[in-house]
Amino acid sequence: MTDQRIAVVVLAAGQGTRMKSSTPKVLHRLAGLPLLAHVLRTAASLEPEHLAVVVRHERERVADEVAERAPDAIVVDQDEVPGTGRAVQVAVQALPDDFDGTVVVLSGDVPLLDAVSLRALLNAHAGNAVTLVSAIADDATGLGRIVRDAAGAFVGIVEHKDATDAQRTITEYNAGIYAFDVTHLRAVLPSLTTANAQGEQYVTDVPALVIERGGAVDVVTLTDPWLVAGINDRAQLSDAARELNARIVRRHQVAGVTVQDPATTWIDLDVTIEADAEILPGTQLVGATAIAAGAVVGPDTTLRDTEVGAGAVVNRVDATLAVIGDGASVGPFAYLRPGTVLGERGKIGTFVETKNAVIGRGSKVPHLSYIGDAEVGEESNIGANTITANYDGVHKHRTEVGSHVRTGSHNVFVAPVRIGDGAYTGAGTTVRKDVPAGSLAISYAPQRNTDGWVEEHRPGSPAAEAARHAHGEQI
Ligand code: UD1
Ligand code: CA
Repeated sequence: MTDQRIAVVVLAAGQGTRMKSSTPKVLHRLAGLPLLAHVLRTAASLEPEHLAVVVRHERERVADEVAERAPDAIVVDQDEVPGTGRAVQVAVQALPDDFDGTVVVLSGDVPLLDAVSLRALLNAHAGNAVTLVSAIADDATGLGRIVRDAAGAFVGIVEHKDATDAQRTITEYNAGIYAFDVTHLRAVLPSLTTANAQGEQYVTDVPALVIERGGAVDVVTLTDPWLVAGINDRAQLSDAARELNARIVRRHQVAGVTVQDPATTWIDLDVTIEADAEILPGTQLVGATAIAAGAVVGPDTTLRDTEVGAGAVVNRVDATLAVIGDGASVGPFAYLRPGTVLGERGKIGTFVETKNAVIGRGSKVPHLSYIGDAEVGEESNIGANTITANYDGVHKHRTEVGSHVRTGSHNVFVAPVRIGDGAYTGAGTTVRKDVPAGSLAISYAPQRNTDGWVEEHRPGSPAAEAARHAHGEQI
């Protein structure tokens, strides 16, 4: 229960040196979303009165991300004074002077915190001046430690670099997530100094300062340390990605999805999968991909922002921004580029590439083809090894194929061109002119056989020997 007024501050100004990256740390991705976006979503779950995001390093890139994900947020610039304490100070200064509620501070690099834990923090905070989140680790190297007195009462936080050897054996660490009463916070922030091992203003000094002025400080200790895992380097990024993925897979399994091999199946946070879909090993479901009931996806398939219809089979496929209809079949070994729309019961088969191609209900492109900038009607069959010649080097042109069309193998459709409903084409046809509905189009150069050519021009070769044999046997 929180009838408290709430402002959320997200710290995202740090450089993230340990990532060794030209991309700011908080923009590295986890399950399809930047770290910062995870944190902004959790922040939004509190429906705060104010949301402030503190930026500095790669300011524009981070601010753009904030504008996209949380357009109502205030972007606050941190100055040259370094440290999480300074970041909180500039954020609090950006809040209206009459704001008298709770300031929740979240770290932009702690992405797995969930709304439930954040609510628990706020519930525990009632009546406190500061409530902070801790967790227990076998090895808390690098993290701030929770210092308690002999009776177990919270005394303060000491950063790893400032800690004594004895303090470094403490396994309870500060998660970097806090609820502050804004009045206490405003009172002590001016007392922060940079007199520490890192020469930074630490927000972690706030709780002890609040105790000095008589405020109550409490600690909520989470039993699941993953929820507060901080991402400081790429190893921690992949560890968190694996853990989050395992949780996403489990959520789908609980909801009725068969996932054969969670270890090799990667599902982004926003993917939707209906019950009784089956996901086979080696599958990546990326972005806003949506899988309908009873579909079988994989093995070895990557789908980005792709829709798969009920009961469709998608086997060894790479697809981006494609729509696969109910009961359709794709692959093995197909490449669906943006704008591919395959109708109900349609087929895009083996070694087929499609782009901007609408292939109607029941139509099939079964083998070895490239279909681009094309529209195929219903119940048509495109012969093996067919190419739409859609590009003249300057412009792209469209190919239209009607319904109930049968085209022969090894055709070239030289766009712009149209093949009417019910038309047929012969094997090897290069379709340069429109084919009227119901016509048969054949284009060929007549075949000429020069008898005895091999024996004359390649005498003694295995081919000539084989030919001689064949002739001998015929005689
Ligand atoms: C911080 C805590 C540490 C805690 C750990 C948990 C401090 C001093 N230490 O350490 O006690 O155990 O988190 O993950 O707070 N940031 C700014 N401005 C700055 C510096 C950092 O906005 O000047 C932001 C960063 O972008 C990041 C967050 O604050 O999102 C934490 O900073 P980071 O440098 O990662 O702190 P830690 O060393 O992990
Ligand atoms: Ca950190």
